[in-house]
Amino acid sequence: MMRNKLKVAALLAGALLVNGAYAEAEEGFWGWLINFERTKEVKPVTDKLYQEECGECHFAYQPGLLPAKSWEKLLNAEALRDHFGDNAEMDKDTLRAIHDYAVENSADKSWYKRSRKIAAATAEGAAPLRITGLRYIERKHRDIPEKMVKGNKGVKSLSYCDKCHTQASKGVFDTDTVAIPNYPNRD
Ligand code: HEC
Ligand code: HEC
Repeated sequence: MMRNKLKVAALLAGALLVNGAYAEAEEGFWGWLINFERTKEVKPVTDKLYQEECGECHFAYQPGLLPAKSWEKLLNAEALRDHFGDNAEMDKDTLRAIHDYAVENSADKSWYKRSRKIAAATAEGAAPLRITGLRYIERKHRDIPEKMVKGNKGVKSLSYCDKCHTQASKGVFDTDTVAIPNYPNRD
């Protein structure tokens, strides 16, 4: 009896240790190596404030979809007053926290594969304001007819990634997870 209890306790402790190690290893190179499968894509949003404030009008774009320079340009009081024609103002402390989170997790600071590609494509210091303006993203969507995007009531514009990428909120944009609304067979 006692032996079994000890066994269970040891197993639990082991499980906790493993989970703890994972949590610790999320960041940086070792995290990238350990979580190799997951790091094929883009790091999911982990910040609640960012998720709430930036997920109100559109899907909360992962910071790893743009370089730090872009977030610097987008996430300041003046820019947010005219954010693509909308007013997305917020109080100073919230803005600071969101700005810092975005910059710390930007494409150029991430080990995730798609972020690495975006970082490489913007390495010359380019700071595009739109993810859809990145050459890498443009190239991937060049062949989708307009009627499936702008002319599609279920999408509106290419900016609404999560309309077609069913696992966008997990940072997954793999072609296997794409389903264009109203065009189940893509033709
Ligand atoms: C009040 C509504 C609103 C809020 C809040 C908002 N946005 Fe936006 N955002 C928009 C609109 C509208 C667009 C343009 C969409 C389009 O062109 O179809 C946009 C576009 C963007 C784009 C460019 C997408 C592309 O086309 O590649 C980024 C990046 C972006 N927002 C980031 C953010 C971040 C980060 C936050 C949080 C600080 C935020 N937004 C909060 C309304 C908002
Ligand atoms: C109208 C639907 C639609 C929208 C909106 C959309 N995509 Fe896509 N996306 C696609 C399709 C279709 C493909 C190509 C799938 C294929 O080649 O089979 C694709 C491909 C991709 C790929 C390449 C996947 C790969 O493994 O090659 C990435 C990355 C991507 N999209 C990111 C985004 C991001 C980020 C946004 C938002 C800024 C977005 N997409 C918006 C439909 C969409």
